[in-house]
Amino acid sequence: MPKSAADIARNEKLRQRLRFYEDLGLAPFYRDRNASSSQSTQSPPPPSAAVASPQPIEEALLPKSTPKLVPALPIDTPTKPVVSLPSSGPSLFDSATKLSSETLLQIRDDLGECTRCKLHSTRHTIVFGDGSRKARLVFVGEGPGADEDAQGLPFVGRAGKLLTQMIEAMGLERRDVYICNVVKCRPPGNRQPEPDEVAACSPFLFRQLDSIEPKVIVCLGATAFQTLLQTNRSISHYRGQWLDYRGYKMLPTYHPAYLLRNPAAKADVWKDLQKVMAELGLEVKKKAK
Ligand code: URA
Repeated sequence: MPKSAADIARNEKLRQRLRFYEDLGLAPFYRDRNASSSQSTQSPPPPSAAVASPQPIEEALLPKSTPKLVPALPIDTPTKPVVSLPSSGPSLFDSATKLSSETLLQIRDDLGECTRCKLHSTRHTIVFGDGSRKARLVFVGEGPGADEDAQGLPFVGRAGKLLTQMIEAMGLERRDVYICNVVKCRPPGNRQPEPDEVAACSPFLFRQLDSIEPKVIVCLGATAFQTLLQTNRSISHYRGQWLDYRGYKMLPTYHPAYLLRNPAAKADVWKDLQKVMAELGLEVKKKAK
């Protein structure tokens, strides 16, 4: 019987997801198609722009239950506002209570048609953020790329599809979490945001985090890590460690764009995400033998 276009698309999506699970070393959902093939789990060196030298994380040194927080570096952030937002639909993953008072809508309103930095002159769309305003888990990336700039949503391009797969592998959906970036406008040519751009835009990120008050913040890549901790230190020594960002538990990991170039590093990221899952009380899936 001929397959419809919808069937083919669904099968392709399923195939991609299974391949992703395979890359992570997860097998229990499906038959192992490559039982005899061995895959390297050795991570390549992190990207030079983001990280100076790879630093294997020693499991023995990592906390077993209660995360040990690395003290935050001094940080100058706006005062913590307080709010609650109108609900647009239930999520399995909404936190029960909120202490903050400024809503994401108010922050978006304040951002307006922003011209605070030079990125405004080349952007098409401001990419503010997406997901649950009551999320217990927030992912922070660097800045929008071409697809995000066109659609006005974070992480919808190739790296975004990988992030979505990572979220789903955790047993969550995108609407359960909140996803945003350090800068809200696309840096031309996908270059890294410059210090003046980060300085102009990051206060909006800090306010978004305070509005949501997540239990865990995952920094995707060096820019998010360095912006939240106000440091120039390399992410390599901190990847996979629990850190303290102004009382929030924060964990830096590799950016999905890096994983697209270095798929072997997915195993490290999966280890990091399992720590996050444990912290959030989500079922941690067993790794395939
Ligand atoms: N990379 C990012 O850091 N953010 C996006 O939204 C997309 C790609």
